[in-house]
Amino acid sequence: MLHFPQRDHASPKVETPDPFNQFNHLLEQDLEQVEKEITRRLQSQVPAVTQVAQHLVASGGKRLRPILLLLVARALDYHGSRAIPMAAAVEFVHTATLLHDDVIDHAQLRRGRPSCNALWDNKMSVLVGDFLYCQVSTIIAEDGDLNILKCITDATTQTTEGEVLEITKSRDLRVREAEYFKIIEFKTGMLMSAATEMGAILAQADPKVQASMRQFGMDLGMAFQLADDVLDYTSVEEEFGKAKGVDLKEGKLTLPLLVALDRCEAKEAETIRQGILNASSELFKEVLKILKKYQAIEHSLEWAEKKLSSAREQLACLPDGEYREALETFTYYVTQRRK
Ligand code: IPE
Ligand code: IPE
Ligand code: MG
Ligand code: MG
Repeated sequence: MLHFPQRDHASPKVETPDPFNQFNHLLEQDLEQVEKEITRRLQSQVPAVTQVAQHLVASGGKRLRPILLLLVARALDYHGSRAIPMAAAVEFVHTATLLHDDVIDHAQLRRGRPSCNALWDNKMSVLVGDFLYCQVSTIIAEDGDLNILKCITDATTQTTEGEVLEITKSRDLRVREAEYFKIIEFKTGMLMSAATEMGAILAQADPKVQASMRQFGMDLGMAFQLADDVLDYTSVEEEFGKAKGVDLKEGKLTLPLLVALDRCEAKEAETIRQGILNASSELFKEVLKILKKYQAIEHSLEWAEKKLSSAREQLACLPDGEYREALETFTYYVTQRRK
């Protein structure tokens, strides 16, 4: 097992595991092909469709879901070419959810650039998101594997359900931890889980191995969202590429707030309530002080660590080697990432 120092939010000097660079050599050629596939599939008879999609796709993004799919497939000794369009497909689902999510969250910044809804408008973001979902259907239809179709369709359905569930719970101070966990399981866990499961399906792995890879993606994805919800309070915006404080502004009761509400005094709970109901930068600062006082950030990251150790256990079924090591390193990266 690899060991990395625990994240210390106060100190930017702690070295963050960087699996993207460390294991770049494993997937360099695959990822070049994935980018070509993405560009090819973005072509539309209506130039504005390509332009809007290209804006988001070309602004970077970690390509985490394609990377996970490819690492699992290659770890299980699948070296065929079907993994390339599949990797593009999971990235397209992700990109479509981001287009829609930024409309829902009124977000102005994505990957360090103006979001599509800010640069164009909500209509364009919604419809280009739909276009991307349709490209996913085309890719899977061309591949023809009904197991893959079911996997990615279920994930897309549940991601959408997670986003809707979150909307229904916004500014609702009765939200409890279990509901928060359900939201992050659906809106983020499901797609990462589908990505890792698809890698195992491509490799025609034993059903038990497929189930472990599904669980690995779920644990990693939930931890990823837990960390994201912490970064919404603690990040350096220039690194994160997204605005801070969006969750409070949108009235989302993410885990840091739930932990603080559980531990704080009535007067402080009232400040949080005010923050949720009518956000301002003043209230954001007040709420952040309360989160720090009650170690709400640390506690949220402990939850993420629990998920990540469960994720690591799932890796035991993979053959030893660099692909597995890369997947393991991603589990150490999640809570220490800054973007
Ligand atoms: C952002 O996902 C949405 C969440 C699930 C928090 P990523 O952080 O993987 O986004 P990009 O693709 O790297 O921008
Ligand atoms: C992330 O939602 C999950 C999806 C996009 C479905 P968030 O709203 O928490 O993510 P960011 O912070 O905008 O990336
Ligand atoms: Mg958002
Ligand atoms: Mg959102």
